[in-house]
This record gives sequence, structure tokens and C-alpha cells, in this order.
Amino acid sequence: MEDLKKKNTITLYTEPDPILRQPTTKVDKITNDLLETFDDMAEIMEHFDGIGLAGPQIGLLKKIIIIDAETIAREDKCPLPSKRYLKIINPEIISVSKELCTKEEGCLSVPTIYYEIERPKQISISYTDEMGNSVKLEADGLLARCIEHELDHLDGKLFIDYLSPLKKKLVSKKLKKIKIGK
Ligand code: NI
Repeated sequence: MEDLKKKNTITLYTEPDPILRQPTTKVDKITNDLLETFDDMAEIMEHFDGIGLAGPQIGLLKKIIIIDAETIAREDKCPLPSKRYLKIINPEIISVSKELCTKEEGCLSVPTIYYEIERPKQISISYTDEMGNSVKLEADGLLARCIEHELDHLDGKLFIDYLSPLKKKLVSKKLKKIKIGK
């Protein structure tokens, strides 16, 4: 993170920045720039103790997501994945479960705010990985929740959008009092 600050290339955007509300477009080509962006995202995520980050959160309106699959597996007491990070390009939802699950959630773009959110317990997606391979992924538990949360970011949606109007008011009041990121 020290290096990122020196280079001053990456900003973590926070609510109510309008960039978080904009739609994203597909990645056409996997370039070295994109791979470096994933590395920067991993660094930011680690620095702020996040488990997932999507393009719009760093001001990049592209369909890219990074997920700390290893930390998630540890938390869910699942077998560790072969790679620490899932680098997800152009994801598409194949299906979501009817069964829902409620758990406390937070977001690096909505600092200090945590609320219980109900989401489908499982999700199945297809995407392109950083090597250009087509991948199908079936996720459950915290991994499913994290993927669903990050997919929302690609549509300009934040987890606080699921809250009641009263709770939303409380959130914006609280966010006005703090200043983290941009
Ligand atoms: Ni988020």
C-alpha cells in the first residue's frame, strides 16, 4: 500500500461517490495492464482487510472482480483453494438457489458499516479467468455471498441498497461523519 500511495495510481472510492453507481462494460482483451490492475486490487484488498473487490471500487468501470478465496475458505472451514485469489473477468450468473441465507456484511466502499443481508445461499456463475480460460463455478456459503456482493458492484449496486429507508438514512449520516478513502 505504501508503494501504491507513492505511485498515486489507485484510489478506493467510497459511498456516496457516483462512480460506484455507474454500469460496467465487458473486458475485450486480457492485457498486461489488466493483470497489473488485479495485483493492485489484491494489494488494496489486503491492506483494508477485505475479501473481495470489484472494478468500480477503484474507479474502473469494467466487469472485473477479485476475491480472496483462501481467506474465505479459512473462515468457512473449507479446503483451501489452489490459488489464493479468484480473478474473475466478465462474470455471468447461471443460476441462484431459492434457499436464502442471512449474514452480516460490510464493504470497503462503505467503511465502518455492517448489516445483516439476505442473499441466495448458492450461486453458479461462468467467467473468464486471468489466463483466458472459461470457468464455471458453483459457490456456497461465504464464497457465494461474496460473489453476489461483488456482482452487485458491477451493476452499480451496494449492499446498503437492501436496507430499509430508515437504516439507509442512518448509514448516510454515519458516512458523513467519517472520511476514509476518497
Ligand atoms: Ni463491496
